[in-house]
Amino acid sequence: MKITIITGSAHKNGTSACLTEQFVKGASEAGHEIYRYDAATKQVHPCIGCDRCHAQEHPTDTVNTACVFKDDMQGLNPHLLEAEVIVLVSPIYYYGINAQLKTVIDRFYANDAALHGQKKAILMLTMADDTSESADGALASFRGMTNFLGWEMAGTVVGVNCPTLDMLKETGYPRQAYELGKNLA
Ligand SMILES: Cc1cc2nc3c(=O)[nH]c(=O)nc-3n(C[C@H](O)[C@H](O)[C@H](O)COP(=O)(O)O)c2cc1C
Repeated sequence: MKITIITGSAHKNGTSACLTEQFVKGASEAGHEIYRYDAATKQVHPCIGCDRCHAQEHPTDTVNTACVFKDDMQGLNPHLLEAEVIVLVSPIYYYGINAQLKTVIDRFYANDAALHGQKKAILMLTMADDTSESADGALASFRGMTNFLGWEMAGTVVGVNCPTLDMLKETGYPRQAYELGKNLA
């Protein structure tokens, strides 16, 4: 399957990067084709809701190029459309996914007709708190967006009590991420 992974953290060797690498390892071993997009290294302007992208009819089998912002979303859009699985990975920032990832998700808007249906979605999170309360907002948002887009929720990894990579490595979350990638069908 074609998998597009979008990460939010700026930490190249952080906790969510570790989950990403483990997922990629499992999915590669299982023979899946992976495209990884690290939002924190990209220039993506927040959606301003101008609705220019929705102003005219657009075929749903090609990328909608009507967005007023010609930025690094252009590199991601074809991979969003062709992916059978979308994986979102973020550290929790103030009880939600971080701004880098959310900015990219909001820009799905230009292509939301084309993105509707026929995809699986996975969410992987890391956070410092030792309860999953910090993840409630991100999980609710993920459920809402997958429901809206008609995507099937294919799994989550919710890494609590993981403020550092060393602490994450003491847990079963990297293994969970690996298994999720490996067993994707
Ligand atoms: C701006 C900011 C806000 C944060 N907010 C939360 C939070 O609301 N709840 C929580 O449990 N951890 C919070 N954290 C901790 C991170 O989620 C945690 O350290 C995570 O492992 C970082 O992931 P990374 O290494 O992939 O960047 C916050 C960290 C930062 C920098």
